[in-house]
Amino acid sequence: MNILVTGGAGYIGSHTVVELQNAGHNVVVIDNLSNSKAKSLNRVTEITGKKVDFFEIDIRDFNALDSLLNKYKFDCCIHFAGLKAVGESVQKPLEYYDNNVCGTVTLLRALNKHNCKNIIFSSSACVYGNPEIIPITENCPKGNCTNPYGATKSMIEDIMMDLYKSDSNWNIVLLRYFNPIGAHQSGKIGENPNGIPNNLMPYITQVAVGKRDELSVFGNDYDTHDGTGVRDYIHVIDLARGHVCALNAIKENCGLEIFNLGTGHGYSVLDVVNAFEKVNGLKIPYVIKPRRAGDVPVCYADASKAEKILKWHAEFNLEDMCRDSWNWQKNNPNGYGD
Ligand code: NAD
Ligand code: UD1
Repeated sequence: MNILVTGGAGYIGSHTVVELQNAGHNVVVIDNLSNSKAKSLNRVTEITGKKVDFFEIDIRDFNALDSLLNKYKFDCCIHFAGLKAVGESVQKPLEYYDNNVCGTVTLLRALNKHNCKNIIFSSSACVYGNPEIIPITENCPKGNCTNPYGATKSMIEDIMMDLYKSDSNWNIVLLRYFNPIGAHQSGKIGENPNGIPNNLMPYITQVAVGKRDELSVFGNDYDTHDGTGVRDYIHVIDLARGHVCALNAIKENCGLEIFNLGTGHGYSVLDVVNAFEKVNGLKIPYVIKPRRAGDVPVCYADASKAEKILKWHAEFNLEDMCRDSWNWQKNNPNGYGD
C-alpha cells in the first residue's frame, strides 16, 4: 500500500516507517520537525536499505497538503503528528489545541478532498482518565483528562467519530497506546526527548548515561504491590507492528474501530528500575518523592480485542524493552544531536 505517515520523523513514527518498509509498503513522511530531526529518517534507511520520501510540511498547512495529495495517491494515512508533553500542554494550551486539534481537522479536510478516506490515529490510554475498569477494555468509558494534551486526544477521537457518522466511506482506526518504551535493536533509532525527560524510561536511561544524578520516584504510597505507580509498558517495535496489522483492517473496510495497544501486563516504577538494573548490569540511584499531580495509580490494558481482530499481540517483554532502551541511549548519548 502507499502510506502517508504524518510525524514520521518522531519516536513512534520512525519505528513504524521501518516496519512498514519491511512489510513492503511505500511510505511518504511529512513532519514539521518541531520535535524531531530528519536524521532519524536517514537512520531508518540504514536499517531498511530503502529511501524514505520526506517533506517538511506542517499539518496545519492546507495548501501544502493539497499539493502533496495532488502529486501522490495514498491508500491510507497513519497520523502521528502532534505535540505530546503533558506539562507543556498545561502551560501552552492554545498551542496544543491549535497544533493537535486544528492540525488534525486540516489534515482530514485535505484527505477528504482527495478521497483518501482511510486513517489510523495515535490516541492514548490517557483518554480513559482514572480508569473505571482494570484491565482496561475499549468499552471502558472515557474519563476526565487532567491536562490539555489528553483533552486533544479525546477531542480528536470525537471529531473522527462524527466524521465517520457523516460519511461511512471512511475507515478510521483509533489506536490507544499504553506506555511505549524501548528502541530498535540496531540502536540506530530511539526516543530523543528535548530537555529534561518527563517520562520514566528516558529519565532512567539519562541517569544511566550520567546526564542526571538520580531518578525521582513519584509516590510509594499507591495501592499497588510496592506502592509505586503501575503502567503497561510496550516495546515501540510491537507498537509499530500494531499499525502494520491495523492496515489489514483498513483494507477490509473496517469502518470505525478502536483498539488498545498494550501488553496486558502492569509493572510498577520499581519493577522497571529493577529490570533495567538486572538486564544491563547497572545501578540506578533513586529517591522517593511525592506523587506527581495528575498521575493515576494503575493503568494497564486488556489487549484481547487487538489480538482477536488484528491478530496482533506484543512479543517483547520488559527485559527486552530495558535492554533496547539502554542500547539506544549508550550508542547515542545525545540522541540525534551528535
Ligand atoms: P514525537 O514527538 O517523537 O513525534 C511526533 C512527531 O510529530 C514529531 O516528529 C514532530 O516533529 C511532529 N509534529 C508535531 N506537530 C506537527 C505538525 N503540526 N505538523 C507536522 N509534524 C508535526 O512523539 P511520539 O512519541 O512519536 O508520538 C507520536 C504520536 O503518538 C503523538 O501523536 C503522540 O501524542 C502519540 N502518543 C505517544 C505516546 C508516547 O508515550 N510516546 C503515548 C500515546 C500517544
Ligand atoms: C504519561 C502522560 C500520558 C501519556 C503517557 C505516554 C503524564 C501525567 N501522563 O503517562 O498523558 O499518554 O505518558 O506518553 O505525564 N515516574 C517516576 N519518575 C519519573 C517519571 C515517571 O516515578 O521521573 C512514574 C510516574 O509517576 C508513573 C510512571 O513512572 O507512575 C510512568 O510515568 P510516565 O512515563 O510519565 O508515563 P505516564 O504517567 O503513564
